[in-house]
Amino acid sequence: MKTTVVANWKMNPSNWREAKRLFAATRKAAEHAPQVSLIVAPPTLYLRELRATYAGRKIAFAVQNAHEGTSGAYTGELSFAQCKDSGASYVLVGHAERREMGESNEETGKKVTAALQNSLVPVLCVGESQRSGSGEHFEFVRTQLRAGISAVEPQHIARVIVAYEPVWAIGAQKPMTPRDMHEMAIFIRKSIVDIKGEKGMAVKILYGGAIDDTSAPEMLKRGDVHGLLVGRASEDVHKISGLLAAIENA
Ligand code: PGA
Repeated sequence: MKTTVVANWKMNPSNWREAKRLFAATRKAAEHAPQVSLIVAPPTLYLRELRATYAGRKIAFAVQNAHEGTSGAYTGELSFAQCKDSGASYVLVGHAERREMGESNEETGKKVTAALQNSLVPVLCVGESQRSGSGEHFEFVRTQLRAGISAVEPQHIARVIVAYEPVWAIGAQKPMTPRDMHEMAIFIRKSIVDIKGEKGMAVKILYGGAIDDTSAPEMLKRGDVHGLLVGRASEDVHKISGLLAAIENA
């Protein structure tokens, strides 16, 4: 199975010229990484034009957020239908940085449903802010999962991707250990099956938080994940090339 890599550019780069440059480097790196299924999540403002200039099939596009309403008086927001129309096929839902800005569990559930209704694949992001010795983070993640997928019909659950990103590893120096990820992946899979039944076994699980070319191969080998959600290492022309090469050669 191919390795899914989501390149989350966040609010970067600062202008269209740089965005084209980053995309050109990303695209070149992707062509040398046939085992990687790459999803680029640029700022939505750049998406339509990047999509229009890209004739290949190797890269798919995501938006980093969308609003669950279909249309109307929501100043500053973008609907799932608009994102789909701009060329996105994936959407990040409930990224830690959106949750930090106030996005609730209830909203993530609505967004997952709206994404599926608009034929977009939701990448539901979950993860605890901190860990204590008592294991409360498992219950925290289960609550986020339940809220995110509770309204999904069991026959559609396999279309959802779950990205586990412990908030303490996002933007950090190092990712969590592959061993801890393995444990969390088992827990996430079991939780989804508890909530949605056996079809939940097919849900892809990604890891995100401080991944780069040095940590990616081990995480993929031992972390029990189908892929990676990458911030900083996807926002730099050299780092993205190094990352994709490291995954391809692992
Ligand atoms: P990072 O971000 O790779 O820069 O730690 C990951 C993310 O926020 O998705």
